[in-house]
Amino acid sequence: MLIIVEHPLCACELTVVRDCRTDGPTFRAAMHRVGLHVCLEATRHLRVRAVPVVTPLEETSGYVLEHRVVAVPILRAGLMFLEPMMQILPRVEVGFIGLRRDEETLQPHEYYRKLPPLDVTTSIIVLDPMLATGGSSVAALERLRAAGVQDITVACAIAAPEGVERVEAVLPNVRIVAGGLDRCLNERGFILPGLGDAGDRAFGTENQL
Ligand code: PRP
Repeated sequence: MLIIVEHPLCACELTVVRDCRTDGPTFRAAMHRVGLHVCLEATRHLRVRAVPVVTPLEETSGYVLEHRVVAVPILRAGLMFLEPMMQILPRVEVGFIGLRRDEETLQPHEYYRKLPPLDVTTSIIVLDPMLATGGSSVAALERLRAAGVQDITVACAIAAPEGVERVEAVLPNVRIVAGGLDRCLNERGFILPGLGDAGDRAFGTENQL
């Protein structure tokens, strides 16, 4: 299931991150605000339970979350969505998966993984601003599914149709929430029109090994 965030402010922030003239600090700040929109939408399905609450004036009913939520940023670029996620859900637990896409083969290579206990009741929200070929997302999702998790949402800033199709083909029950759905991938696996390499632009590592 693909859900595109339909919000004018999200569209404006995406324009800032797409612009090749945007510098690193401005890029990170705009990506943070894209993350707020995307993470909010990525938590819309969470179930709540009714509880009584006493206001200064009377008793009424309120809500608490019914289950554990674990956010999993995919290093590095996914770190930009972690703070927005924690702002809207301060008690979120956090796991990390480090994946680096080989720019020749486009295959993801895992270099780090640290996850809290996961089971069938855990709701997972994978954070990665870019869904390009879908290789990194599928690699992360397969590891999470292997841990028994059923409810998984991928939160990204932009997605390519090729990546969405790949995730849906391999893991049909995964929810994808994106700030925008772009046109296609180029021959190097970059999203068009896209925003370049999110990690490099955020952390100033263009042309670095
Ligand atoms: C980028 C991006 C995604 C992945 C998307 O990360 O942040 O994780 O590539 O590509 P895919 O859908 O084709 O797998 P990258 O490997 O460049 O690492 P970085 O975040 O450290 O820059």
